[in-house]
Amino acid sequence: MDKYLLPHKAEVMKITQETGSNLNIKTFRIRLLEEEARKKFNFYPGQFVELTVFGVGEAPFGFASSPTRDDYFDVSVKETGLVTEAMHNLEEGDEIGVRGPFGNHFPYEEIRGKNLVFLAGGIGLAPLRSLIEYVLDEEKREEYGRVQMLLAFRSPEDMLYKYDFPRWEKSPDTLVKYTIDEECEGWVHCVGYPHDLLHDELDLNQPDTVFFTCGPPIMIKAITDELKSSGIDPSSIVTTLEMKMSCGLGKCGRCNIGSYYVCKDGPVFDLKQMEKMPPEF
Ligand SMILES: Cc1cc2nc3c(=O)[nH]c(=O)nc-3n(C[C@H](O)[C@H](O)[C@H](O)COP(=O)(O)OP(=O)(O)OC[C@H]3O[C@@H](n4cnc5c(N)ncnc54)[C@H](O)[C@@H]3O)c2cc1C
Ligand code: FES
Repeated sequence: MDKYLLPHKAEVMKITQETGSNLNIKTFRIRLLEEEARKKFNFYPGQFVELTVFGVGEAPFGFASSPTRDDYFDVSVKETGLVTEAMHNLEEGDEIGVRGPFGNHFPYEEIRGKNLVFLAGGIGLAPLRSLIEYVLDEEKREEYGRVQMLLAFRSPEDMLYKYDFPRWEKSPDTLVKYTIDEECEGWVHCVGYPHDLLHDELDLNQPDTVFFTCGPPIMIKAITDELKSSGIDPSSIVTTLEMKMSCGLGKCGRCNIGSYYVCKDGPVFDLKQMEKMPPEF
């Protein structure tokens, strides 16, 4: 049997309640239990794992932490259905199954020396956090240019990773901006959709910039349209796609978009590739 079909036993080390709203998101810090498996488990920002809640089922989640923290990984999970609800009912110390890592990854080597812009919406910040933490890591920071972020949430209660933001803001040559959908009391940052704020809040005129965007499909479409109409090369705009999955290995055919298998050829695609996909994507 393919070794990637067998789950490794893992322990939930820590659970963080991220949101205080109807949008229920928790972050799970996970560590493989067997030392041998832990040594061989190398992942890159943008890849994903299949997590099993025993007796319930399995679902895919993107890595939300940097591989530079090599003893564990984080995933952030939005409660939507059967498996995600069971994940939310787990407690610290509980055992789960882990298959992976799967998929391609963000081009973390090709973007060395370039300026980076991160445009995230809601839980779309989770996969981007893996790359953000990687490039802002003290040992890696000087390998990358200016880092700018525009982080969009429905409301202040929907913000995730608030505890990371002071550290991100203090990183050299880094600009972090926040926006929510509607004005509310006590909010001192931007208000409005990210595609409407791009030009006013960020400096988009720097040469050699790569844009990473992840969030609801409608946000990704608005942002990519705005960037393209500003003359940005589609191959410099990178996102991740989500499809229903089963094997995660390119074997079952569950996740295809045209000729692409999202689990194997993706989940990371640039806009040039996405423009070759059927129109509904
Ligand atoms: C590569 C990849 C990375 C992902 N990363 C994350 C992540 O970091 N955090 C996170 O919270 N979720 C992530 N997802 C989505 C997550 O896998 C689904 O929310 C999960 O499978 C739902 O399982 P469930 O049993 O709780 O829901 P179900 O009971 O199966 O369904 C509940 C609802 O969710 C929808 N749904 C089910 N699976 C998916 C899916 N794969 N994509 C979109 N909608 C789906 C169903 O249509 C239904 O409306 C990712 C998906 C992929 C493919
Ligand atoms: S999930 Fe099986 S082919 Fe992609």
